[in-house]
Amino acid sequence: MFTARSAFSTIGRRAFSVSAQQNSKVTVLGAAGGIGQPLSLLLKLNTRVSDLALYDIRGAPGVAADISHVNTASKVTGYDPAPEKLKAALEGADIVLIPAGVPRKPGMSRGDLFKTNASIVRDLAKAAAQHAPNAKLLIISNPVNSTVPICAEVFKSKRVYNPKRLFGVTTLDVVRASKFISEVKGTDPANEEVIVVGGHSGVTIVPLLSQSNHPSIDGAVRDALVKRIQFGGDEVVAAKSGAGSATLSMAFAGSRMADSLLRASQGETGIFEPAFVESPLYKEDGCDFFSSKIELGPEGVKEIHPVGKVSPYEEGLIEIALKDLAEDIKKGQEFVKSNP
Ligand code: NAI
Repeated sequence: MFTARSAFSTIGRRAFSVSAQQNSKVTVLGAAGGIGQPLSLLLKLNTRVSDLALYDIRGAPGVAADISHVNTASKVTGYDPAPEKLKAALEGADIVLIPAGVPRKPGMSRGDLFKTNASIVRDLAKAAAQHAPNAKLLIISNPVNSTVPICAEVFKSKRVYNPKRLFGVTTLDVVRASKFISEVKGTDPANEEVIVVGGHSGVTIVPLLSQSNHPSIDGAVRDALVKRIQFGGDEVVAAKSGAGSATLSMAFAGSRMADSLLRASQGETGIFEPAFVESPLYKEDGCDFFSSKIELGPEGVKEIHPVGKVSPYEEGLIEIALKDLAEDIKKGQEFVKSNP
């Protein structure tokens, strides 16, 4: 029945979604780095972002001044490294993206970054827990399998943890899977969606080709494709010969994830992105966190989808992944316990 009350609530909802659209603050911690700069530029192009806060231990004001000349409506502010500046960068943020830390060099695994990046992420998570406890936190810094549990422990210790709002960004694995399968099949990557589950490093990355448009891929072609998706990051590390890892494709992936969350928080439905989140799916195997298809909503995680039907080959891949993943997660959790 159409009543004045229902008409009013429709107008109210519209008004809400318009104002939400005009008032989304997004903060990037590590904004002057290889990922941070193009990521910030892509966020400047996003009309859903009204306020872009760029923080780094060096160079953020310069990046902000540069990006601020792009003629989109949002306001860009750069912050020098100081506790009060970090506080100002974080306060009022709806989304905080963290690409701060060191990237891989040839021969390094993501796990090799733990020593340096664990404490960087822990300290930034402490600041986020204090100044932006309600923001959605998107962790890009590697090793994601451990840095996400680190953030969860920090937020728990500050009593502000909400698992719906913490995400390890695995979007690049999905982007790569879509592109690489299209190269094998000679198709348009825009039409190729591949669910990638597990974690974000080597064998913990498990693409589910059996659920893609090409479930019959088999044998050596399948093996090579899976390996390329799992170790695609190494191609970039090798090609850059010591100058870093994926930055531009990662910026694209991070900006896609942030946009999906902004759309979901502004009321759009049917938005799915795989992400590394606290998940019930494999807790019994020691994996408190797991990446699978996630439906996003205004609160962040709306629904965690189960892995679904997989092939015996993929079952084997998941089994291998769980072993490494459980160790990586535990390493992150224990780091915060012994280095609070
Ligand atoms: P980069 O070295 O070019 O940039 C890192 C930035 O972080 C630098 O500007 C640095 O000054 C800043 N930084 C360091 N400590 C900081 C702190 N305490 N507070 C604020 N900023 C700080 O590195 P890049 O290439 O941008 O990579 C960043 C991270 O992203 C690495 O850990 C890398 O492994 C990871 N990564 C993650 C991917 C994913 O799929 N999740 C893909 C590719 C890289």
